[in-house]
Amino acid sequence: MWLLLLMILPEHIRNRRSVKVAAFLVVVGTLVFWWYNFPFQKVHDYILQSKRGKSILLWNSNENERFFRQHSGSCGSIRCEIISNRSERPIESYDAIVVIFGDDFSPVDPMELAEFQSESNNTNQKFVFYTRKSPQSLASYHNVSEFTGVFNWTMTYRRDSDIPLLYGRIAPEELSFLSPEDVLRHIERARKTFRPRPKSRISKLNKVSPIVAWMASDCNTTSQRELYVKELKNYIEVDVYGECGNLTCDGPQCYDILLRNYKFYLSFENSLCPDYVTDTFFTMMDRDVVPVVYGGADYTRYAPTHSYIDARQFKPEELATYLKILDANDTLYGEYFWWKDHYRVTSSEENMWHNSFCDLSQKLHRDFESKSYQDLISYWGDYNQCVPFDPKWIF
Ligand SMILES: *[C@@H]1O[C@H](CO)[C@@H](O)[C@H](O)[C@H]1NC(C)=O
Ligand SMILES: *[C@@H]1O[C@H](CO)[C@@H](O)[C@H](O)[C@H]1NC(C)=O
Ligand SMILES: *[C@@H]1O[C@H](CO)[C@@H](O)[C@H](O)[C@H]1NC(C)=O
Ligand SMILES: *[C@@H]1O[C@H](CO)[C@@H](O)[C@H](O)[C@H]1NC(C)=O
Ligand SMILES: *[C@@H]1O[C@H](CO)[C@@H](O)[C@H](O)[C@H]1NC(C)=O
Ligand SMILES: *[C@@H]1O[C@H](CO)[C@@H](O)[C@H](O)[C@H]1NC(C)=O
Ligand SMILES: *[C@@H]1O[C@H](CO)[C@@H](O)[C@H](O)[C@H]1NC(C)=O
Repeated sequence: MWLLLLMILPEHIRNRRSVKVAAFLVVVGTLVFWWYNFPFQKVHDYILQSKRGKSILLWNSNENERFFRQHSGSCGSIRCEIISNRSERPIESYDAIVVIFGDDFSPVDPMELAEFQSESNNTNQKFVFYTRKSPQSLASYHNVSEFTGVFNWTMTYRRDSDIPLLYGRIAPEELSFLSPEDVLRHIERARKTFRPRPKSRISKLNKVSPIVAWMASDCNTTSQRELYVKELKNYIEVDVYGECGNLTCDGPQCYDILLRNYKFYLSFENSLCPDYVTDTFFTMMDRDVVPVVYGGADYTRYAPTHSYIDARQFKPEELATYLKILDANDTLYGEYFWWKDHYRVTSSEENMWHNSFCDLSQKLHRDFESKSYQDLISYWGDYNQCVPFDPKWIF
């Protein structure tokens, strides 16, 4: 407006220096006035707000503190602080409070949730429901239907969580899309060039050792994977490590040592729930072994085609026959490794935490919408989404 006025002034007045200076001051003055008043103030606040680092309180955790300290503040350009000591600062000062459900962090109880609800008067704060368990496994620790309208966001393995907690990722190495023809071509090449690393197959007793391994700690699961394995053992030998068998494997190198001797590993999940694919799958995909999966997820969304074997497409007897065929034919076995040069697997637990907490921090920066879960049980604990075991699969 002022500029316009300046332009319509007669030429001889417009050229006077004092008029130019006065016009400049008026324009700057107007801008400054606007900036500190409506509507620039809001923009200004927004910019300040989004530059500020976010602070996250882990409500119940006394383990892994070192890990969280390490990862505080390192989410690209975003500053993100993770605190695990409840009494360090006033509760209302946090941008988010994460409550961890499960047995990963001990002791989970007492949760004292009522305490933070009454103490915090910060209406922008997000209460986050965090769990790595399936609803069925969690049910033996917590009754989530007690938490109506408490949580604003969820952090679970489910893809439709506010912040998905992925146990691992398998991403194409090159950003190009592999067409079905490309895949066939790669499989064809793997067929010709793949030479399986010789497995040390002859045991001390001078007898050929099994080609299939399984390791698990929970031997009474809702997926009844233990029944499947029991039946499978009638047709093919399976070496079982951990609680559910009589073999042991400990230490950080355990998997690497163990897998030197096996061609297949049973990556069986303890619950058959959509999206529930855990580290038992991703850690094996990162190694020189073919995982045999048993779970409720659509595995094609997690891994390339022909990179794993789905036990739920076979009865145990058929699976045993198929594994024996692959064992006897290196060409067929090798086809399962076609993707190794074209995809990258990230599977470590550290990655999982780092990615998910950075995602949380990012969401805190851009999502100001008010949201809460009135009924966590229908979202999260709904058993209908998890498939119960069906004996037809086995017998
Ligand atoms: C937690 O913070 C409080 C207050 O700063 C401090 O007194 C206490 O020692 C801290 N606890 C731990 C385990 O660091
Ligand atoms: C929230 O409570 C704290 C003390 O508990 C108080 O200092 C602060 O002013 C309160 N904030 C608001 C917005 O009421
Ligand atoms: C879980 O909590 C809800 C609501 O408090 C209650 O109705 C239900 O009986 C509880 N379920 C179990 C298994 O304790
Ligand atoms: C498995 O767990 C269920 C439910 O917790 C229990 O009823 C059953 O007795 C357990 N079975 C075995 C073999 O431990
Ligand atoms: C492990 O248990 C099976 C029976 O469940 C038995 O046949 C086998 O000899 C045992 N192996 C060892 C090393 O104890
Ligand atoms: C392995 O399987 C391929 C493809 O079915 C077949 O052409 C080849 O003859 C088999 N090799 C052996 C040794 O059986
Ligand atoms: C979080 O949920 C609580 C409880 O339903 C609600 O009062 C609050 O407004 C929600 N806050 C945000 C920031 O969504």
